[in-house]
Amino acid sequence: MTPIISVRDVRRSYGRGANRFDALKGVSLDIAEGESVAIVGKSGSGKSTLMHVLALLDAPTSGTVELEGVDTGTLAGGRLNRTRNKTFGFVFQQFFLTANASVLENVVLPMTIAGVSRGERRRRGLAALEQLELGDKAASKARDLSGGQKQRTVIARALVNDPRVIFADEPTGNLDTATGAVVEDILFSLQREHGITLIVVTHDEELAARCDRRIVVRDGLIVDERNEVAA
Ligand SMILES: Nc1ncnc2c1ncn2[C@@H]1O[C@H](COP(=O)(O)OP(=O)(O)OP(=O)(O)O)[C@@H](O)[C@H]1O
Ligand SMILES: [Mg+2]
Repeated sequence: MTPIISVRDVRRSYGRGANRFDALKGVSLDIAEGESVAIVGKSGSGKSTLMHVLALLDAPTSGTVELEGVDTGTLAGGRLNRTRNKTFGFVFQQFFLTANASVLENVVLPMTIAGVSRGERRRRGLAALEQLELGDKAASKARDLSGGQKQRTVIARALVNDPRVIFADEPTGNLDTATGAVVEDILFSLQREHGITLIVVTHDEELAARCDRRIVVRDGLIVDERNEVAA
């Protein structure tokens, strides 16, 4: 079967000349639809850089990224944005919630970008919030939520466009153990029950161990890919 994402000899450099830094030095990787993949490695090893390239948020300096066999380097900007928005959901700490907007307004944002009608946005936004047990917080300002509720709101926002792949960068990083476990359970149940592909960058050993597969990044290279025994 064609992998959902296929990366070949991807390099990503920042800066020029003497200031050039090679953050990815030739990475190849296939991700099958429906699997969960942990990307692990030391701080500065290139995990977020790899994730941004996989998620089509950043173009590689060289090499190819295919989405279901289509070379994404050939897609024009508008088409690329629509494809990303339709296919992917993001659980990134740097994609902050808008503090002064309501929880529902935050969650419907990807649908606004996708041009979904107002009524449909509201219906789907509320359904996603219900799924994450946040229905009663729809009208609250995002800034008034607890840390775990904020993270669940970010997951609700990642879900509204019915994505096939969810990218999560340290999804449990700022949460206490119990709340982190709730967020983790939500992500894995989405993978199991909806067949969503889950790609997660994490320093959390237990979270990595729950994934079907683990990819270790060191100094811009994949050094060891080891299959986890499914639980
Ligand atoms: N915009 C940039 N300009 C220059 N160098 C960058 C840029 N972004 C990242 N880097 C460098 O590329 C390397 C990889 O960064 P990356 O953010 O991918 O690391 P990471 O593995 O995600 O680390 P962490 O676990 O700390 O989040 C680092 O050495 C970083 O300093
Ligand atoms: Mg990072």
